[in-house]
Amino acid sequence: MRTILLGEPGAGKGTYSLELVKRYGIPQISTGDMLRAAVRAGTALGLKAQEFMKKGELVPDSVVIGLIRERIAQPDAAKGFILDGFPRTVPQAVSLDETLTELGISLSSVFKIEVSRETLIKRLTGRRVCKACGTTYNIDTMRPLKEGICDKCGGELIQRPDDMPATIENRLSVYHKDTAPLIEYYEKKGLLRRASCEGEYEDVIARIFAALEKGATV
Ligand code: AP5
Ligand code: MG
Repeated sequence: MRTILLGEPGAGKGTYSLELVKRYGIPQISTGDMLRAAVRAGTALGLKAQEFMKKGELVPDSVVIGLIRERIAQPDAAKGFILDGFPRTVPQAVSLDETLTELGISLSSVFKIEVSRETLIKRLTGRRVCKACGTTYNIDTMRPLKEGICDKCGGELIQRPDDMPATIENRLSVYHKDTAPLIEYYEKKGLLRRASCEGEYEDVIARIFAALEKGATV
């Protein structure tokens, strides 16, 4: 399976990607996680990306396209992959098509996560991430066993710098301006599937698997 999870900031792309990793044994490729790792490592790329990320703007296409080209060609992605947060602009989608053609492979589907704006805001403001290992929690819906402490590694739980209210607003408007056109882009290719991702967690996951497996080669 080679799929893209498409959805607004806070829709649940990262959370559902991990469920797909467990079920299909293929890697999650998240440009957001890759860029945050570069920021933590203080590389030249990280320093450049940080300027855009902290304002909720998109990092230039040339930067993320280069990252994805390299990552998709790695051996662990040969069986398939889940793209989380890429592509995010039409030029990124066109470049992805070119990369896949060069590799002689194609996408199985593009999955659009449908969530109301009210839920998005709640999920983003309630999100906490482990400073050490990056595991995601939510103070309303996915609480850690001990407040402020990561269940997995005991690290400190913090808010992502771009989860502050003003930055959230900007991220949502950037999504509607630059990323939403991808819905039509993939609809025209016959690849788009959608499912409502509101409600009980287990039901949401079941709906995602059902939508993805409809006619897909896993
Ligand atoms: P990125 O990291 O991709 O952020 P995003 O798209 O804004 O999405 P998020 O990670 O905020 O949300 P998510 O959909 O993963 O939700 P999550 O699963 O955490 O990008 C960050 C920045 O990097 C961008 O702004 C940009 O600057 C740059 N960037 C990245 N990719 C780029 C690209 N391709 N081009 C240019 N720039 C790029 O869930 C949210 C919360 O809700 C969590 O707390 C979770 O526990 C909870 N939750 C999720 N689902 C449920 C559920 N069903 N029930 C209850 N709680 C739930
Ligand atoms: Mg994410």
